Amino acid sequence: MSFEIPVTRVPQPKPKPRDDQLGFGQVFTDHMFLMDAAGETGWSDPRIVPYGPLELEPATVVLHYAQSIFEGLKAYRGEDDVVRLFRPDRNIARFNRSAARLCVPVIDPELFLAALKQLVAVDREWVPRAPGTSLYVRPVAFASDPDLHVRPSRTYRFFIILSPVAAYYAEGFNPLRIRVEDGYARSIRGGTGAAKTAGNYAGSLLAGEEAQRDGFAQVLWLDGIHQEYIEEVGSMNIAFVIGDELVTPPLTGTLLEGVTRESVLQLARDYGMSVAERPVTIAELLAAARSGTLREAFGTGTAAVISPVGELAYKGERFRVRDGEVGPLSRRLFDDLSDIQRGRRPDRHGWMVPVED
Ligand code: COI
Repeated sequence: MSFEIPVTRVPQPKPKPRDDQLGFGQVFTDHMFLMDAAGETGWSDPRIVPYGPLELEPATVVLHYAQSIFEGLKAYRGEDDVVRLFRPDRNIARFNRSAARLCVPVIDPELFLAALKQLVAVDREWVPRAPGTSLYVRPVAFASDPDLHVRPSRTYRFFIILSPVAAYYAEGFNPLRIRVEDGYARSIRGGTGAAKTAGNYAGSLLAGEEAQRDGFAQVLWLDGIHQEYIEEVGSMNIAFVIGDELVTPPLTGTLLEGVTRESVLQLARDYGMSVAERPVTIAELLAAARSGTLREAFGTGTAAVISPVGELAYKGERFRVRDGEVGPLSRRLFDDLSDIQRGRRPDRHGWMVPVED
């Protein structure tokens, strides 16, 4: 099925930043996608319009009760100048799982994909070229009723905005220092940890600020009940090389089902590596760090891509990973993912989706 999405173009495109001036998520393109949902009728009035402010009443549900979900995915400019999205089907599926958890109406995956492709195609000149850069795509749905009852909104708005970006962390591909959080918790069994919902991020800010104040880039979250099992970093999933095995915590409902995580596990299996999705306790990790069997630690995420971890701190003790150097698997995964995304390596799993036919 094809979707006719009307486009209202900006009269005058904005000046575009140079590729070497890009940061993360502070510059937005000329256009955005919008649509609305009301009552039982589902989503309607899809349209591409100039990027600009949204008007909200102070009573709007999302501002009070955080009924909102989002996604993050990227479009890349290939060496052949074709612009492709990386695994948009996985983000769309996750968005709809988050929608179901947060009582937001789901979106027809075909309409969602058409919106992503057409919006990126309209702003294709904004997709940067330099190595390590991409166009970050941020779809968001939020509750838009002006109503102070604590109940699901009857109306919703959905938008997609685009931002040309470079690395998420100021460290770039250099190893991060991470603090294992032993006080605050990000999520708990039966909670919203697996959903990409605003409240998860709001709830993590204080721990992140305190860690940054002490010189760490982020916190590594432990499970919310025993504070024993490793979960995720909050802006990315986490993986370790312990001995010869790639190990990452399993998807038990409390951590985000990362698309980069899934892709990295696939690539490692393609390399013939042993891969285990299994619970990892902090005790096991620190024992591996002490004995030297912890060979690599790295985060995986759309924004963060592959972010090597060079140091873990837990209850005041510091553990160096690989003496703060980037490990060979982190490097190989980063290079291979980037090559697939830029069309320099065969896309064996069909991950790349051109935005124009
Ligand atoms: C992403 O990796 O796309 C994320 O959403 C993480 C963060 C920037 C919120």
